[in-house]
Amino acid sequence: MSSLKRAQDEGLHTIQIEGLRKTYGSASPGDLHYIIKDVNLVVRSGEFFILLGPSGCGKSTLLNMIAGFVAKSGGKLTVGDAEVQRPGRDRAVVFQQADSSLFPWLTVRGNVEFGLRMGGMRKAERREVSDRYLGLVGLAGHGGKFPKELSGGMKQRVQLARVLAGDPAILLMDEPFGALDAMTRRTMQKELVRIWRETNKTVIFVTHDIQEALLLGQRIGIMSRGPSSNIAHIYDNPLPYPRDVAAPGFGELYNAIQGHFEEEEGEVDRL
Ligand SMILES: Nc1ncnc2c1ncn2[C@@H]1O[C@H](COP(=O)(O)OP(=O)(O)OP(=O)(O)O)[C@@H](O)[C@H]1O
Ligand SMILES: [Mg+2]
Repeated sequence: MSSLKRAQDEGLHTIQIEGLRKTYGSASPGDLHYIIKDVNLVVRSGEFFILLGPSGCGKSTLLNMIAGFVAKSGGKLTVGDAEVQRPGRDRAVVFQQADSSLFPWLTVRGNVEFGLRMGGMRKAERREVSDRYLGLVGLAGHGGKFPKELSGGMKQRVQLARVLAGDPAILLMDEPFGALDAMTRRTMQKELVRIWRETNKTVIFVTHDIQEALLLGQRIGIMSRGPSSNIAHIYDNPLPYPRDVAAPGFGELYNAIQGHFEEEEGEVDRL
């Protein structure tokens, strides 16, 4: 591949955010209540970026704006050259709650194959893809079940399999492993890192778990407490993959980020 072509490809899915704001409005124009305000961020193509922040600070709101589900109130938000105005095939979301995204009238397999069927993929090929991803998320043999027959963690894994089967360039993940037991969670984290490294997808992953953030991301954006939340600081995580909590340097980074949160809590307390 020529270097020009590579540069063009790499720019294709770059996410650029400048002065981004979101308000749900208020009774009087002088009293606007911003959920997020002045968010600035560039996530380059192929990067694994973490959004870390306290509950209610606006992580899901920001992710849903990148997905095109929530309209911005101001600022700039582009993917590649295009302003984000609606959802697109290049971006797929794994939601915080699997319940709201699975089709209850379709089996597990039907859910995973839905997008592929809409895209015109033939049955045999669909079967191959759904088998691969159901196996990957530990649900081989469960393809014939309906969502109501599954536990919360299993539903979450179906959602992940469905999104991965669609092979989007950008994966937007909203606390996708929050409902899983500790062991399954660790397995899924490892699998996600492996898939990301193999496929070169761009991942934006929301969590409020510092350890999870450090196991996964190349950069960790810390969101400030809302309202008017923004990305207060970005930490680089240069630790090599696959990562381990016992790796040298892991504890230091953990303490630095935890210290950051404690400082912010302190400021809130003093007010
Ligand atoms: N449709 C809406 N209308 C009005 N306010 C909303 C709406 N959606 C979210 N909010 C508010 O925006 C703020 C941020 O919500 P958001 O769900 O983005 O937080 P979060 O960081 O994802 O929290 P959590 O970690 O608990 O998931 C909250 O104060 C919430 O009440
Ligand atoms: Mg959320």
